[in-house]
Amino acid sequence: MAHKHFPFRFSPAGLRGLEASATLVINEKVNEMWAQGKEVYHLGFGESRFPVHPKIAEALRQHAYQHSYLPSQGLLEVRELVAEFYESRFRLPVSPDRIIIGPGSKALLHALMQALDGELLLPTPSWVSYQPQAHLVHKEVNWIPSSPAQDFALTIEALQEAMERSERAWGNPEILLINSPNNPTGRMFTAEFLQELAEFCREEGLTVLSDEIYGLVTHGVRKHYAMARYYPEGTVTLGGLSKHLSLGGWRLGVAIMPGNRAGAQLLKAVRTIASETWSATTAPVQYAAKLAYGGDPDIEAYIDECARIHAIRTRYLWQGLRELGIRCPEPHGAFYLFPDFARWREPLAALGIRTDQQLAMHLLDVYRLATLPGSAFGAPPEQLTLRLSSSYLDMETYERSEAVLAAYRANPDPESFMREHHPNMNEALYRFRLFVQSLEERSPNGKVPELVFE
Ligand SMILES: Cc1ncc(COP(=O)(O)O)c(C=O)c1O
Repeated sequence: MAHKHFPFRFSPAGLRGLEASATLVINEKVNEMWAQGKEVYHLGFGESRFPVHPKIAEALRQHAYQHSYLPSQGLLEVRELVAEFYESRFRLPVSPDRIIIGPGSKALLHALMQALDGELLLPTPSWVSYQPQAHLVHKEVNWIPSSPAQDFALTIEALQEAMERSERAWGNPEILLINSPNNPTGRMFTAEFLQELAEFCREEGLTVLSDEIYGLVTHGVRKHYAMARYYPEGTVTLGGLSKHLSLGGWRLGVAIMPGNRAGAQLLKAVRTIASETWSATTAPVQYAAKLAYGGDPDIEAYIDECARIHAIRTRYLWQGLRELGIRCPEPHGAFYLFPDFARWREPLAALGIRTDQQLAMHLLDVYRLATLPGSAFGAPPEQLTLRLSSSYLDMETYERSEAVLAAYRANPDPESFMREHHPNMNEALYRFRLFVQSLEERSPNGKVPELVFE
């Protein structure tokens, strides 16, 4: 029966158990602090913030008059270019009829999860949205544990154990979601590991959803390999324009299905969901995407230039943390770091900090450092991990992003680029230094120095 006082009644199916994410809680607090005029160093915000390439902006402008609904699968011309792009960039042979264009890879992932039966196998840690998306479509999630001492690497043994655990409970673990370069750790799979993983997945008949949205944001340490090269019959590859061209707000993603009959069926299922939900991806954006995927030398150079800058900034932050004795896996791609503070468990406990959420709140309250707790990514709270993003500091506004790009073009030497043009990144590192010092200086019964930042 409807409650008189509540105009809206919510469907518990799917929504029950979903809570406001830690990301939202931190962001709201940061906004509050900003509104009070307080300086906050935002390492929680993961968005590539380089300017829109002028040629792409012009392409969008020119196609503003495109106002008709497009096919749910996406424009054929765009799909053809996406196919060529994947072939040339990732040596992945793709047929345009196995590609679907969607309003961001996130929406496509949701549609895929809705379309596919079976439980999800999710490496720990994983991007914040995978688990809630599974929840929304009533899909059971089986977390695959990992260890900070092993840089949170996914192992076949841990995957197998997670499958067996699910099967003992009569579950059907059938879908593995992988993400390389990884959000939140920045790690990338090697070709050897993918080969091994492919053999395991083939043996077990697993469907792999391979989120490769950061595939072109690499640091030059490891090469990106597409899982579909090793397991073409069972892998769906996800990508889009959000990261390597900083076009998150334009909402254009792609999903590439296997070339077999099963892939054709899956494409049909996702296209059906698309046609009954978002209909089609925004027309002018699709027309502009022809340039983004079209192999234009200026655009190609811009993609690589932005990746180099992300690499310099992210690795600078990583080096800075390492010099403070903070354990953190070396990033290979994307713009994230996943340090842990378990080394200071005792002095932290003396401060009343026993979970990563408390740690993130302490850093925000006392040091004005905004970070995200690792538990938002599925890490156990007592591991005391944080997810840091290098993408926002010193690129807070469009003008500042343009200035960072101009500074790099004027002098790409990483040393001086970071020293002279990254005051906020350096200040954030300084504050981490103070925090670590306060933990080091604190004996189990000692006092932590009071710090007040204005
Ligand atoms: C790992 C990962 N996958 C997917 C997305 C979403 O990408 P899109 O803008 O294509 O929906 C993000 C964005 O933060 C991400 O970090």
